[in-house]
Amino acid sequence: MLALCVLNQKGGTAKTTTAVHLAARYAADGVQTVLLDLDPQGHAARCLGVDSAMPSATARLLREEASLAEVVVEARPELSLVASAGDVAQVAAALPPADGVYRLADEAEAFRDYGAVVIDCPPELGVLTLAASALVADLVSGGARGGLVVPVTPEPLAVVGLSDLLKTQRRLEPRGVMPPVFAVVPTRVDSRNRVTREVAEALEATFPGRVSPGVRTTVRLAEAPNVGQTIYEYDPGGRGAEDYSSVARFLVELAETNHAQA
Ligand SMILES: Nc1ncnc2c1ncn2[C@@H]1O[C@H](COP(=O)(O)OP(=O)(O)OP(=O)(O)O)[C@@H](O)[C@H]1O
Ligand SMILES: [Mg+2]
Repeated sequence: MLALCVLNQKGGTAKTTTAVHLAARYAADGVQTVLLDLDPQGHAARCLGVDSAMPSATARLLREEASLAEVVVEARPELSLVASAGDVAQVAAALPPADGVYRLADEAEAFRDYGAVVIDCPPELGVLTLAASALVADLVSGGARGGLVVPVTPEPLAVVGLSDLLKTQRRLEPRGVMPPVFAVVPTRVDSRNRVTREVAEALEATFPGRVSPGVRTTVRLAEAPNVGQTIYEYDPGGRGAEDYSSVARFLVELAETNHAQA
């Protein structure tokens, strides 16, 4: 099983685009996949052309009102979605801090029925992101492959910006709340650009062997959510589809390598 928590506290680094397309790729390859949206912006549903019901599936799960099986919708063949909406922000604010972080981990058993679990986090390191990472930490400690997947856009301070995340990760890992960084995904890359090349080198130095192939900038990836389609449906022969398939394959290979080393 593959368990991936897609996070970066910085906004707009292509977390949602990455989470949706990893999940869509694995599902299209025949892996029973669940995509869990923890962002109150609810963009994952939009990317898949699914209307968010109210109260949202994520809110009901976090409030322990319903089980995973009761809240998922079948967004595509093999692809179950736990859709989020604005009400998740209120649920998060009302969660008891100590207990809230473990709300999803308490449901880990239900997630183990899937071959791939992919979580889209909001751009912060608050209780929602920690609840997501605690679930993935639980799945990984139970034998799943994976951990944190961090999409990074090539900007001069991109790597420096990761130091806060790494500090938090190191503090929380011993408490079982955050698994290690499994992979870093360079997004919106333009290989002709000097900054892109420098960021790619700095990432490889910090996370040797864990930097995935980059996802090139393409307006098609920005357009696809407007019609509720994944890039595999909207532009299957284009570079967005090609690049996300490469990232998905890289993560599977990384999981298999880790397995071989264990
Ligand atoms: N490779 C790409 N090329 C062009 N546009 C992209 C690419 N990847 C993502 N985008 C676009 O960039 C914007 C931000 O992407 P996305 O919503 O995935 O980021 P995010 O990290 O989830 O944002 P937030 O922090 O708000 O949750 C979106 O409009 C998306 O369509
Ligand atoms: Mg997002």
